[in-house]
Amino acid sequence: MTSGTMTNSGMTIITLDGPSGSGKGTICQLLAARLGYHYLDSGALYRLLALAAKRHKVALDDVEDLAVLAAHMDISFRMNSEGDHPEVILEGEDVTDQIRSEDISAGASQVAVIPEVRNALLERQRAFARPPGLVADGRDMGTVVFPDASVKIYLTASAEERAHRRHNQLMDKGESVSLAALVENVRARDARDMNRSVSPLVPAPGAVEVDTTGKSIQEVLDIVMEIVRG
Ligand code: DC
Repeated sequence: MTSGTMTNSGMTIITLDGPSGSGKGTICQLLAARLGYHYLDSGALYRLLALAAKRHKVALDDVEDLAVLAAHMDISFRMNSEGDHPEVILEGEDVTDQIRSEDISAGASQVAVIPEVRNALLERQRAFARPPGLVADGRDMGTVVFPDASVKIYLTASAEERAHRRHNQLMDKGESVSLAALVENVRARDARDMNRSVSPLVPAPGAVEVDTTGKSIQEVLDIVMEIVRG
């Protein structure tokens, strides 16, 4: 089934793409909850693949085995017992926190540049589209995975603001990193993501761009809801 037939069958697919730190994850989860839609965290799939590869001792440059693992890894998502946060499951084990480590983040960005991996994950991502609708969070949701989505949004924020958000997250975890170094990291990552040859991070044709710089989560959610209603 293609995303085209899915949208034609009356299902609403909303894509939110943008760089990390733009607030996509939080906004997508709130939006999906508000609309009663399913939620796809596509970045989690790349993270799960990096973790599965580590566990199964598949090298991050072993294209053939990575593609097989991507197509067959045993993964699922469920709501936590409080019903306010999605949990990520690999082979029956809750790995929600593990996939956010620096090590796995680096592995995820390595496997994400391999076209065979992206291809193997394509149908798995499309399978998340189920009635009544889907909110899809990623980098290429509107350009590649769901090109026929009903609503496409591209979230941005200045590099300084995204570095600030990351700085606050790290401080909450008791880690101290200089803000200047984080701004540099954010800029370097943007350049890599936007200039890579496969599925570069670019706004999808027809996407509405929302700059979240200086805006609260509630303000961004209100803007996004307005776009969806429109
Ligand atoms: O959104 P995130 O930080 O969880 O994404 C993890 C990695 O996967 C990151 O390096 C970007 C990449 N990614 C991607 O290439 N395409 C997507 N649709 C989602 C994430």
